[in-house]
Amino acid sequence: MFESVIIASGPTIEPIDPVRFISNRSSGKTGFHLANEAKKREIDEIIFITGPTNYIPSDVNLVHVDTAISMRDNILTYFKEAGVIIMAAAVSDYRSSEYCHEKIKKGNDRVILELVKNPDILKEIGEKKSDDQILVGFAAETTNIFKNAKEKFERKNLDLLVLNEISKENPVFNEDLNQVFFIYKNGIIKLDKMSKMEIAVLIWDEIFKIAEQT
Ligand code: C5P
Repeated sequence: MFESVIIASGPTIEPIDPVRFISNRSSGKTGFHLANEAKKREIDEIIFITGPTNYIPSDVNLVHVDTAISMRDNILTYFKEAGVIIMAAAVSDYRSSEYCHEKIKKGNDRVILELVKNPDILKEIGEKKSDDQILVGFAAETTNIFKNAKEKFERKNLDLLVLNEISKENPVFNEDLNQVFFIYKNGIIKLDKMSKMEIAVLIWDEIFKIAEQT
């Protein structure tokens, strides 16, 4: 059904100096399961664009990236031919405003690091995509989760948003189990807590349903 799909996975890492970086707790498990499930469906080419993670699927067109900017550049390279773009990556929202080519010495008691915003890849793809391309985003929220998620759905021009509520009961990052909500144009569905592998199956089921409707 789809000739080409893009799955962006894992964290991005934003260097500060040759040995230090800013990143996050993303394991890349959800993206990994999404790629494995894609292989079971009628999809000719899976372009898997990933930040550093141990979860690398086999038999995909694999593109390793590190920073948000390198992830963006690679997604833009492949995006026109992709019928589906799934942004499961935990893109770092900020990067250091300067890269220090030498290791920063620990002299001062206080060091101030200035951060600048990274490009919002999902928003950019949402603006550029055509009506027959399906765009899936993720959200990890701790407060006002439905309000924030619905705004995100609209602002980023998504077809499906997978909402994670991060809480003590559902820590999400690096876990095998997760409880998510699917946000669509016309509503919300709460899924039971289940494995990330099972969630990947249901996400692909939704993508195929959306494709049939468009
Ligand atoms: O706005 P927020 O970061 O909560 O949105 C999360 C979604 O946006 C995820 O799908 C993530 O992959 C994507 N994202 C992005 N570029 C960023 C930040 C997040 O594509 N700079």
